[in-house]
Amino acid sequence: MKSIIIANWKCNPNSLKEAKKLFSEVNKKAKAKNTDVVVCAPFVYLGLLKGKNLGAQNVCFEEKGAFTGEVSTLMLKDLGVEYVIIGHSERRKYFNENNLDINKKIKILLEAKLKPILCIGETKQEFEAHLKPEVIETQLTEALKDIKKEDVKNVIIVYEPVWAISSNGGENCSVDETMTSVVFIRKIISELYNRDTSDIVKVLYGGSVNSFNSADYIKNARVDGLLVGASSLDLEEFSLIVKSVE
Ligand code: PGA
Repeated sequence: MKSIIIANWKCNPNSLKEAKKLFSEVNKKAKAKNTDVVVCAPFVYLGLLKGKNLGAQNVCFEEKGAFTGEVSTLMLKDLGVEYVIIGHSERRKYFNENNLDINKKIKILLEAKLKPILCIGETKQEFEAHLKPEVIETQLTEALKDIKKEDVKNVIIVYEPVWAISSNGGENCSVDETMTSVVFIRKIISELYNRDTSDIVKVLYGGSVNSFNSADYIKNARVDGLLVGASSLDLEEFSLIVKSVE
């Protein structure tokens, strides 16, 4: 299966000039055989970045209408966007997004033939209380409610333990812990749909990925790719991560 490395720029960089420079350098330098490299940039830059595999970091749950401050699937499609991150823990935490919102967004994205990148994962508290399986199962089941087998194949799932995000290598999720979660996610998909579907759906890892740990996750955690935050803003570091997939 083709691997996928996704850059999540979050609320960065500060200027269009920097965004254009980073995007064009990533397109030139961050390449590896049999790997798709996707850049999820802030909305304001999307129409001004020229290249393929462009992603957004959110979308409106309705196609159009009176939703002040929102950006729709139609607008994103018009700009050539192909992927959209949904349910990132920062959106769940700071913008109160819940599984119902996430489910609506996945549905509208699939209708528009855009690829949802669904982020799931437990908080530190949940992890310590051994609630990881319940959290993952609930997030997946509610996010994928009423989504058909044919469509779920286009959803990319990312296991992102909230406690391992933005830790700058301080608190990484071990490869074994990641693998256990990935296997569990596939088991849930298999129960919700079937084995063939669970084999096809891409499951990625995200959380403090850098050029020192990326190869280990890819080789040993049974992931189909990585979602990269902070390290994706550093061209050298991001290029090394992409190359490590080979
Ligand atoms: P990080 O972010 O790589 O900076 O930990 C990952 C993410 O939140 O997608």
